[in-house]
Amino acid sequence: MDYTINVTLQTERNVKDTSKIPFGVQPTEHMFMAEYKNGKWHNTRIVPFADLTLSPFTLCLHYGQTVFEGMKAFAMNDGRTNIFRPYKHYQRFSLSLERMCMPQVPEDLFIEALHQLVQLDANWIPDGEDGALYIRPFMIASEGRIGVKVSDEYLFMIVCSPAHQYYAKALKVKVEDRFVRAADGGTGAAKCGGNYGAAFYPTELAKAAGYDQVLWTDSRHHEFIEESGTMNVMFYIDNTLITPPLSGTILDGVTRDSLLKIAKERGINIEERSISYREIQSALDDGKRVEAFGAGTAAVIAPIEVIAIGNKDYNCYIGKDAIMYQLQKDLLNIRNGNTPDSHNWNYII
Ligand code: COI
Repeated sequence: MDYTINVTLQTERNVKDTSKIPFGVQPTEHMFMAEYKNGKWHNTRIVPFADLTLSPFTLCLHYGQTVFEGMKAFAMNDGRTNIFRPYKHYQRFSLSLERMCMPQVPEDLFIEALHQLVQLDANWIPDGEDGALYIRPFMIASEGRIGVKVSDEYLFMIVCSPAHQYYAKALKVKVEDRFVRAADGGTGAAKCGGNYGAAFYPTELAKAAGYDQVLWTDSRHHEFIEESGTMNVMFYIDNTLITPPLSGTILDGVTRDSLLKIAKERGINIEERSISYREIQSALDDGKRVEAFGAGTAAVIAPIEVIAIGNKDYNCYIGKDAIMYQLQKDLLNIRNGNTPDSHNWNYII
């Protein structure tokens, strides 16, 4: 289908240096919008970034029918801009929308909107290895009606923000043994707002106890590791990279997938399988070198230096020669064009 996207340009960029601005605070100048009504997407447009006006009756405000994605665009060494794996993000977006009874966005509309918006605002990509344009496509149920129902109307938008490092230092995480993020049959694999809102309370408790994040465990036994607050998790133990499988209760992370492929190409042993916190505990008790890290679009690779299991803090390896940094470097090299993009991950504008 051929979508025409009307563009209204903002004439001036108001902020120059974004290096001191925290993640997700500074919008770029433009945003994409489209409305869904009577079974069709209408009014596809790029406009200057601005607040929304919504009725207090708007369904998403009450029942949580919201879905989002998190993607990044990078400045390549040769000056071109690339959006990293937009088709993989689109697939996940579609699955999330299906799970939340929301209408699909046609792939060509999604890609064209991204392309045009990123092209317009690419000058916001900060310099430096960590610099990226964080891209946030999202959809909300926009029908104004208080009754509990699937909305008949939706708003699909894409906004962007210049991004530097998400976590400034290695993380301290706590194995969660009381609360759950997701259970079998729930929405754990969907990137829907409710998953994040429901995670705040346990995360705040962990923070009050001196940790940065929780390490979620399975809902039945509170034993098998799932993911961490904003990212998937990986462990490197005995020369093997281990990460929980896509069981339906965790997100199918794009960074997770990319790192697994990169690690495989490096000849690293990979195991996508359930991993009990007891296995990590016993490796650490045995004095083994254990690397633990989060993997996500915003976080990229977030080294974990402490894992709290029960009342005990265990130290993981975060030395400079850790495998996680090598994987991160490989990923970066593909994104900035230093090494060939053999997987066709870079969508070059
Ligand atoms: C991302 O990594 O893109 C996320 O969506 C996680 C977080 C910023 C909520």
